[in-house]
Amino acid sequence: MSVELDQEAFSNLSYGLYVLSSHDEDSLNGQIVNSVIQVTYDPIRVAVTVNKKNLTHRYITKSRAFAISVLDHSTPISFFELFGFRSGRDVDKLSKVRFKRGITGCPVVEENALSAMEALVFKEVDLGTHTIFIGNAAASEIFREGEPLSYQYYRDDMNGDTSPTAPNFSPVD
Ligand SMILES: Cc1cc2nc3c(=O)[nH]c(=O)nc-3n(C[C@H](O)[C@H](O)[C@H](O)COP(=O)(O)O)c2cc1C
Repeated sequence: MSVELDQEAFSNLSYGLYVLSSHDEDSLNGQIVNSVIQVTYDPIRVAVTVNKKNLTHRYITKSRAFAISVLDHSTPISFFELFGFRSGRDVDKLSKVRFKRGITGCPVVEENALSAMEALVFKEVDLGTHTIFIGNAAASEIFREGEPLSYQYYRDDMNGDTSPTAPNFSPVD
């Protein structure tokens, strides 16, 4: 049976926006992701989908750890240009923002972030182009009160572009 897929239908799915960061010993990197969800409560586990081409993917595979910073509504578009469209292979992104090393060794980005969490990889699912990393939460912290940035606001009000390496990329957008 063949099924016609209407790409538009998927564009109604809702997401937040985050910095996903990791390390390979003293090499640090981070990238924008929208594909974060908390998947269980007891214990708290989070999942994130990462393109295999990304440097962050390589670092998570090596360190078996990642950090997620929840971005604030007021995050400037320049932050997305750096973390969402440039690779750590070409630019030292972390040298341009405020961060600290967390208990997992991952860089935890504090700039433009409301809160952050670190996780140790518990399971990964190979999806071909992407990997879903599922992690056990190892630490979490609130930096300040505020409104988390939604993917819809980023796209509609900030005129933000999506990326061909994001799992929800649509060529018809
Ligand atoms: C709005 C937005 C959402 C994104 N979401 C994801 C995502 O969920 N997963 C992913 O692998 N890449 C996503 N990306 C793309 C990466 O941020 C981008 O490819 C980045 O340059 C990878 O950097 P790296 O090579 O330094 O790891 C997104 C980009 C943007 C702008």
